[in-house]
Amino acid sequence: MNILITGGAGFIGSHVVRRFVSNYPQYHIFNLDALTYAGNLENLRDIEGATNYTFIKGDIVNAELINDLFKNHEFDGVIHLAAESHVDRSITDPLAFVRTNIIGTVNLLNASRDSWKDHKKGKRFYHISTDEVYGSLGSEGLFTETTPYDPNSPYSASKASSDHFVRAYGETYDLPYVLTNCSNNYGPNHFPEKLIPLFINNIIESKPLPVYGDGKYTRDWLFVEDHARAIDLVFHKGENRETYNIGGFNEWQNIDLVKLLCQLMDKKVGRPQGTSEQLITYVKDRPGHDLRYAIDADKINKELGWEPSVTFEEGLERTIDWYLENQEWLDNVTSGDYQEYYTKMYN
Ligand code: NAD
Ligand code: DAU
Repeated sequence: MNILITGGAGFIGSHVVRRFVSNYPQYHIFNLDALTYAGNLENLRDIEGATNYTFIKGDIVNAELINDLFKNHEFDGVIHLAAESHVDRSITDPLAFVRTNIIGTVNLLNASRDSWKDHKKGKRFYHISTDEVYGSLGSEGLFTETTPYDPNSPYSASKASSDHFVRAYGETYDLPYVLTNCSNNYGPNHFPEKLIPLFINNIIESKPLPVYGDGKYTRDWLFVEDHARAIDLVFHKGENRETYNIGGFNEWQNIDLVKLLCQLMDKKVGRPQGTSEQLITYVKDRPGHDLRYAIDADKINKELGWEPSVTFEEGLERTIDWYLENQEWLDNVTSGDYQEYYTKMYN
């Protein structure tokens, strides 16, 4: 099997690429990534020399490049993760999200449809999406696979659109696909613009921890390796044209999570308890901020036997240890453009 993984140099993509390259020596894994600010080949140093792995630098918005790749490599499967993924950036530059998340996805769908039109058996387009497409929950209830789409940010609207295109290609062209919608991931290699890695980096540097609004917003956190394991399972065992929700059964209000992170970090870096909590600063809220996400992952559990394997305590500890042991990775990604982004966003 030749498998195309898009966005494999990013946070989740790098864990998926590593898993497939290591566990499936009989597959050849092609990692297509434009290496935007969020893509980093340092994430894959340990497997870059594997004989069943090829990295291709390229943009999914470039239809000609995508069509050529499909002609040259005859992919049997696509695992599509490449995306603009940060809600705050989508508020300042929505068109970048339209380009990559919608046009880029449609380019991949066109190429898959054309290259598989006469032999669909064994082929699969796997679209990785988010729980944010369902919008916001109140204090009760969970997102299921049949919850109506109700996206609130340009990011989630672009992901919702891409999900609709995937389903439409299934209906219209009989494209074999599977789709998953996952909750908030955390773990090693997470770019420090998202809550957990941003706050770990700021605590290391004793910088303010900018909590949006009243901090009572709720997210459902899943360790990234558990998501990669779910992706492996759905790619191999998921039913054609089905959607599966993936989540951690692990809801936290932001402020409680931040306080826990502060306590753990104080212990890890040998500061008196309470030191990092003093860095907490309430700042202006994110416009259109979704109050609560929570996933009902019953379907993937019952049908495919998946459940999270890493507890939040263990996952957070492994995450913090990784950042403390990989200060050079952090220094590299927080130099240059990051400083400009940070100043614009938080000052
Ligand atoms: P990320 O921002 O860390 O990585 C995205 C990767 O895509 C980067 O390597 C980047 O270089 C690449 N990329 C961006 N634009 C591209 C383009 N035009 N052409 C080719 N490559 C491009 O994102 P992530 O957090 O790893 O998310 C991966 C996928 O999972 C996304 O589709 C996201 O919507 C989805 N998702 C993320 C989460 C989460 O909590 N992070 C949860 C659910 C779903
Ligand atoms: O739910 C899945 C989604 O989770 C993914 O689809 C997205 O790609 C991913 O970025 C993530 O989106 P969120 O907006 O939930 O993640 P983020 O880390 O940006 O924010 C988490 C919560 O923390 C959210 O309520 C906003 C808040 N926050 C975030 C930042 C960056 C702060 O209070 N301060 C901050 O500086």
